[in-house]
Amino acid sequence: MKLSSPLIPLTLSFILLSPYPLWVVASSNNKPQAFLQCLSSISKVIYSPINSSYFSVLDFSIQNLRFSKPETPKPIAIITPIHVSQIQVAIICSRTHGSLQIRTRSGGHDFEGLSYVAHHPFIILDLINLRSISIDVKNNTAWVQSGATVGELYYKIAEKSRSLAFPAGVCPSVGIGGFVSGGGYGYLLRKYGLAVDNVLDAYLVDANGEVHDRESMGEDLFWAIRGGGGGSFGIVVAWKLRLVLVPETVTICISNKTVKDGAIDLIYEWQYVADKLDENLYLGILLNGGNISSEGGKPNPTASFISLFLGKANKLLSILNKTFPQLGVTKKDCTQTSWIESALIVINGSPTNNSLRTLLNRKSQSVGSFKIKSDYVQQPMPLDAIKGIWERLKSQDVKATTLDIVPYGGKMCKIFDFETPFPHRAGNLYMIGYLVGWENQSKEIEERHLSWIREIYNYMTPFVSKFPRAAYVNYRDLDIGTNTEYGKTSHDQASIWGFKYFDKNFNRLVHVKTKVDPYDFFRHEQSIPILSPP
Ligand SMILES: Cc1cc2nc3c(=O)[nH]c(=O)nc-3n(C[C@H](O)[C@H](O)[C@H](O)COP(=O)(O)OP(=O)(O)OC[C@H]3O[C@@H](n4cnc5c(N)ncnc54)[C@H](O)[C@@H]3O)c2cc1C
Ligand SMILES: *[C@@H]1O[C@H](CO)[C@@H](O)[C@H](O)[C@H]1NC(C)=O
Ligand SMILES: *[C@@H]1O[C@H](CO)[C@@H](O)[C@H](O)[C@H]1NC(C)=O
Ligand SMILES: *[C@@H]1O[C@H](CO)[C@@H](O)[C@H](O)[C@H]1NC(C)=O
Ligand SMILES: *[C@@H]1O[C@H](CO)[C@@H](O)[C@H](O)[C@H]1NC(C)=O
Ligand SMILES: *[C@@H]1O[C@H](CO)[C@@H](O)[C@H](O)[C@H]1NC(C)=O
Ligand SMILES: *[C@@H]1O[C@H](CO)[C@@H](O)[C@H](O)[C@H]1NC(C)=O
Ligand SMILES: *[C@@H]1O[C@H](CO)[C@@H](O)[C@H](O)[C@H]1NC(C)=O
Repeated sequence: MKLSSPLIPLTLSFILLSPYPLWVVASSNNKPQAFLQCLSSISKVIYSPINSSYFSVLDFSIQNLRFSKPETPKPIAIITPIHVSQIQVAIICSRTHGSLQIRTRSGGHDFEGLSYVAHHPFIILDLINLRSISIDVKNNTAWVQSGATVGELYYKIAEKSRSLAFPAGVCPSVGIGGFVSGGGYGYLLRKYGLAVDNVLDAYLVDANGEVHDRESMGEDLFWAIRGGGGGSFGIVVAWKLRLVLVPETVTICISNKTVKDGAIDLIYEWQYVADKLDENLYLGILLNGGNISSEGGKPNPTASFISLFLGKANKLLSILNKTFPQLGVTKKDCTQTSWIESALIVINGSPTNNSLRTLLNRKSQSVGSFKIKSDYVQQPMPLDAIKGIWERLKSQDVKATTLDIVPYGGKMCKIFDFETPFPHRAGNLYMIGYLVGWENQSKEIEERHLSWIREIYNYMTPFVSKFPRAAYVNYRDLDIGTNTEYGKTSHDQASIWGFKYFDKNFNRLVHVKTKVDPYDFFRHEQSIPILSPP
């Protein structure tokens, strides 16, 4: 393999690997003590419960308090590598103590906590210290280690150039490792596609503890890691990304509508417009409801129509005037600014003079507990369906709920569904992310919020994609199935959620997984299964 990246130290390749099946033979030896012994050469980066900072290291990247309860299973150890060679040691020691699972954590935003919770003895490989970013403005590329966040990447790009960007998401604390592994979208998706559509190379440590770049891992595995979901194929240490061009001036407009402003009709009409707009224009909707948005004791959901246009305000207003005049966007709803400042406005929901340094905050703004689900819509919904959604947004049983409605079209439908594992391309008008959040950790309150989101998801069945009912893997949802239910074989069980996330690409993912990780070393509740053990 080539070691051309400055991010990968040259000290790594000298670990003697045992023949592969050794760890299987040795799998009865799972005593944590023996395991920690094996790791003694890297003890400086290991936290076990005897270290006083074990809990602060564990909790630091837990974004969803639902998985931070006293009864939540805790890792035997947390390894925080600063060199790739330490990842190799961790993998080899886990293999020789075969029943330990490894959970890899980058930003810790997994919606089901899979990067830091397992119901088997496990360790966390926390990549928080592997987060360097190097930007090459001459070639419009960047090498980014997985432990960096989306916000850190945005910040580093902005330091070097205001006309370069990367098509990543809205939430700055999301980790690059998980984000890119599952596809990764943001407000540039109609112009530049997903994060995975802009990955040029990657470094990965496989189940043998070997490091590969694109060339040595081969095109099958390189395909699989660009959207096949985190935690199945290996540990991606760094990604080479293609940076994209944005104009010096972009325009961001936010117009908030309530039912009095005709929000319901506007959402209905938006369905016929949004995926067909100029690809320089993203026009999405955030529906906010729950107790948090009530006003004067009365429920009052709002629809925020958010436009990001890669160009000046006048041009945007003239496009909207032709295509969607009902929305009534005017200049006072809009801010002309640089792309990076527009990202800050999107994060805050309104114009702000925050310093760019807020992008460097690794803690999610949304503290509390939450649950997500996703859907794809392929035909406009009838007006009554939207009225039904609106009624549910009025619920006072839940603290806060957001439906994130993301228009597709543009670049998204020009990429074939087999080019990356992410299959939701042409034919999809928009995606819906359903999010519910709460603060009180009591069982009863959690159940009430989970019931709310399951009910609306059930309600939506007739209006969304079918056979399979598609879902976005980065909006991880264990309700749609796990690998081990009902005592059936893992593969049969997995195909239920597998086709929802990956459609026909699921079979190819299983094929790649079986080839590169035949003993199913990298595994979790929704990891890609192997066909059958060798
Ligand atoms: C507040 C919030 C906002 C979000 N906004 C967006 C958005 O705008 N757009 C969007 O597309 N998604 C968004 N997401 C979803 C997000 O992309 C996923 O949750 C993503 O997987 C998080 O990555 P992470 O590194 O922070 O998470 P982690 O929990 O660290 O990892 C997620 C999964 O990937 C695995 N993994 C992590 N690092 C690696 C690695 N280096 N190699 C291999 N596997 C790895 C983990 O084991 C786990 O299975 C959001 C999530 C939250 C909570
Ligand atoms: C945790 O404690 C062990 C035993 O004292 C020590 O060897 C190790 O270096 C400590 N870890 C860290 C990160 O300080
Ligand atoms: C990057 O740019 C340099 C010149 O700045 C050039 O020599 C090199 O070949 C480029 N690399 C790639 C991968 O394009
Ligand atoms: C809704 O919020 C108000 C304060 O904003 C609070 O008094 C009330 O108890 C909340 N209702 C529920 C059901 O949580
Ligand atoms: C929209 O177009 C109409 C007719 O072309 C014009 O009268 C109106 O002023 C325009 N509105 C805006 C906000 O540009
Ligand atoms: C629009 O509504 C959202 C959610 O209710 C709020 O956070 C935001 O500040 C509002 N923005 C403007 C510009 O009114
Ligand atoms: C900008 O910052 C100043 C000082 O911190 C503050 O007083 C002002 O209200 C801010 N303006 C906006 C629009 O946020
Ligand atoms: C959480 O809700 C329960 C009722 O289910 C209540 O008894 C408790 O006081 C609440 N806790 C907090 C911190 O609000």
